[in-house]
Amino acid sequence: MRIEGSSALITGGTSGLGLAVARRLLAGGAKVVVTGRGEERGLAAVRELGPGAEFVSADVCDEEAMARAVDRAAALGRFGAAVCCAGTGAFGRTLGRRGPLPLAEFTEVISANLVGTFNTARLAAAAMAGLEPDDGERGAIVCCSSIAAFDGQRGQVAYATSKAAVCGMTLPLARDLSEYGIRVVTVAPGIFETPMVAAVRPDTLAAIAAQTPQPSRLGRPEEFAALVAHVLANPMLNGEVIRLDGACRLGHV
Ligand SMILES: NC(=O)c1ccc[n+]([C@@H]2O[C@H](COP(=O)([O-])OP(=O)(O)OC[C@H]3O[C@@H](n4cnc5c(N)ncnc54)[C@H](O)[C@@H]3O)[C@@H](O)[C@H]2O)c1
Repeated sequence: MRIEGSSALITGGTSGLGLAVARRLLAGGAKVVVTGRGEERGLAAVRELGPGAEFVSADVCDEEAMARAVDRAAALGRFGAAVCCAGTGAFGRTLGRRGPLPLAEFTEVISANLVGTFNTARLAAAAMAGLEPDDGERGAIVCCSSIAAFDGQRGQVAYATSKAAVCGMTLPLARDLSEYGIRVVTVAPGIFETPMVAAVRPDTLAAIAAQTPQPSRLGRPEEFAALVAHVLANPMLNGEVIRLDGACRLGHV
């Protein structure tokens, strides 16, 4: 799809990887709607992003709020891109000092990371399906998994499960939406410098950087955004999960 002149919806676009995607797509000539739950942070993000960016307050699991966000993106231009960055990290062992992991904690992560991604994809696809095809294509959806989907560490059972499910969803989504000329690709990042990892102990982050063969550091949000922009623009990328991790393979802890 052509980024210039189109509009894009970016969930979780008010911070971290999503905000970097918003910057990149705006620089490429798109208009963007960023969604998130915090009004104040959303408004600060659009102030920083400048003209061409709008904020819609929406929990990714909220059908009506997300439908409003999609409608807003569709009103801004040719709505050809949805990037699902909203997600939540969580730490909790299956059996910890407080006993078994509370089911509500597990469900909350599955809900935000998996159900929210599907909610975004299905609503975005419905809006894109109404477009006139451009060179056989109507739009593209990029989902965000994590290398935890493959190398889930101790304490990551909920997070890793949710992210593995996003990988599992990618091919059937791409197959379902192929008849509408809509592609679906998932990016599985390694550890990137964002607010999500700000709470992680510095020595843990240093150990992960050291385990990353090349480059031996954490990822930068603009590197994630560069891959998303390429995925959106390259019509042959479809139904695939792409690791973006400097060859990092997470260990046991
Ligand atoms: N930073 C990393 O190292 C890393 C690695 C792998 C995957 N990821 C994934 O990348 C995505 C972006 O994360 P980030 O690192 O930019 O962190 P971040 O915390 O800056 O961004 C995540 C955003 O999603 C929002 N969010 C969470 N639950 C939501 C919900 N139910 N409804 C709406 N918004 C919700 C948060 O408020 C936040 O703004 C997430 O899916 C995360 O799991 C991040």
